[in-house]
Amino acid sequence: MQKKIAVILGDGIGPEVTQQSIKVLNSIAKNYQHSFSYEYALMGAVAIDETGNPLPDETIKICLSSDAILFGAIGDPKYDNDPTAKVRPEQGLLKLRKELQLFANIRPVKTYASLQHLTPLKPHLLENVDFIIFRELTGGIYFGAKTLSEDGTVATDGCSYSVLEIERIAHLAFQYAQKRRKKLTLVDKANVLETSRLWRKVVQGIAKNYPEVAVDYLFVDNAAMQIILNPAQFDVVLTENLFGDIISDEASVLAGSLGLLPSASVGNTVALFEPIHGSYPQAKGKDIANPLGSILSAAMLLDHFGLNTEANIVREAADWCLSNKFVSKDIDPVNNYTTTAIGDLICEYIERNAKREGHVHHDRLHKSTII
Ligand code: IPM
Ligand code: MG
Repeated sequence: MQKKIAVILGDGIGPEVTQQSIKVLNSIAKNYQHSFSYEYALMGAVAIDETGNPLPDETIKICLSSDAILFGAIGDPKYDNDPTAKVRPEQGLLKLRKELQLFANIRPVKTYASLQHLTPLKPHLLENVDFIIFRELTGGIYFGAKTLSEDGTVATDGCSYSVLEIERIAHLAFQYAQKRRKKLTLVDKANVLETSRLWRKVVQGIAKNYPEVAVDYLFVDNAAMQIILNPAQFDVVLTENLFGDIISDEASVLAGSLGLLPSASVGNTVALFEPIHGSYPQAKGKDIANPLGSILSAAMLLDHFGLNTEANIVREAADWCLSNKFVSKDIDPVNNYTTTAIGDLICEYIERNAKREGHVHHDRLHKSTII
């Protein structure tokens, strides 16, 4: 298979984690006879520094002429701490999502037996946790009209949703639920918000087309509590933009580290794959960031190309690293491996697996490990 991938390294740790994914994709290409080519594009604070624009037109053009987009992270403290900044890195990502009509952000959440000690939850609560958050990505309060009064004392952010915007992601979420454990939870705030009441009405209507899927409804405040109290109850969680942003960071606590969660954003054009974490500027250039969120996003990209065997090998390699303690500093502050070393180990696993050797010798690590 021949594919072209647009790569947006972005800010902070974005470049170093994305480089590991590219290594992994190259290893897959080499061992499974595919050909992936990459075209690099700018977005975020780096794009502002170079062009004055967080999303140059050239980037949109490159994305639209590619088969998928791999993206790192966005954000820089010099903008976070300046609420008066007119141009912000995040505007680039939001505009890209809107321009490419990436209306559904899919965030799978799972737990790892070897990482249970990292979560503040009791181990029995983490058993059988495996759910997917479907976060609406191009509507809601993120994109509503924003105002600031002339005297700077009153600000507003409008929140709006149309039936069409709700329907298209709801259908996608129901289709996933049908292929999984057949349960869908709509998270909203229908006791207060008009937009949430529209979500509930539309989802109730669509549910009739998917009779095998059991649907339940949770107010977002209750959902935030249930994710901690009883996370195994969830299968597919459907929610609007802001609620999805918040509960997905919360859900990453179940996995053990925010650095582990991948995501796919899909819609009407080319799909984008990115870890859910931010740009983690404190770690930038230190080779300590966890590359697995990005590498697992690359696995979702392979799934998107229909390369499920290859995607599963990447996931298997990530599981293998975690269970053998080849982990980054966020997971083990004392005995840890660099971002680059973890990328290399994943590639070695892929290589050995393809050759069916079943035995990996780590020259760099000076030890042998049976797979
Ligand atoms: C995410 C991020 C973004 C969002 C930021 C960087 C704009 O938090 O993808 O979850 O809020 O959508
Ligand atoms: Mg977020």
